[in-house]
Amino acid sequence: MRRKVIAGNWKMNNDLSETISLISGIKKGLSGKRTENLIIIAPPFISLETAKTLIKETDIKLSAQNMHFEENGAFTGEISAKMLKSVGCEYVILGHSERRTIFGETDQIINKKLKKAFSTDLLPIFCIGESLEERENNETNSVVERQIKYGLDGIPEDDFNNLIIAYEPVWAIGTGKTASPEQAQEVHNFIRNLISEIYSVNSAEKCTILYGGSVKPDNSAELLSQNDIDGALVGGACLKPDSFLGIVYSV
Ligand code: PGA
Repeated sequence: MRRKVIAGNWKMNNDLSETISLISGIKKGLSGKRTENLIIIAPPFISLETAKTLIKETDIKLSAQNMHFEENGAFTGEISAKMLKSVGCEYVILGHSERRTIFGETDQIINKKLKKAFSTDLLPIFCIGESLEERENNETNSVVERQIKYGLDGIPEDDFNNLIIAYEPVWAIGTGKTASPEQAQEVHNFIRNLISEIYSVNSAEKCTILYGGSVKPDNSAELLSQNDIDGALVGGACLKPDSFLGIVYSV
């Protein structure tokens, strides 16, 4: 049985004081209630260290939203994997569609980032997904396959086994339009089959594949009950304790 994972991608939201109040709201909502699900939060860089202190003695895990692939050097404005480790990050989101479309990240750049994350012992949450135009042209599978094959190029199976995949159809992110549970399941199943071809059936069975794109408490239970959907990467709905925890406790 794969453990369900609910990860909150805060994006460019919440300053330091808002970070403190959101995390205390989440902790309050979690206290006294049990969940088997793994909860991950991904605040902006400037809040990571504070967040780490606030989640000490909880089971919440800390993720960054991005990083650079180089070790260090003249890369003004960038953050390295080692820096993320030094403030207590365990996870890092890589290849988010906003990074791909707004900041021009290619499959090759994301591949370098994934390799750097593994060599630094950070666990990547590797995002993939098709645009609306690609879906309408029936290119969903070929786009997802390209993103996976190039993204994972040269990554050994042992490293791969520490990776979380997040399938996020671009047309469903922040739009209020969610893929139907059947649509999402179909792509998740395609991804799992692809993983068994690239690596092995065993690795495919173990792989955690999250769905992302307008996940909310009122649609999460149905999405997450699909066979190949192992959790959610949540944007908008993770910014309020009630809606984030509503998703956590819906499964
Ligand atoms: P959304 O974002 O839940 O606001 O659609 C999801 C994501 O971008 O990870």
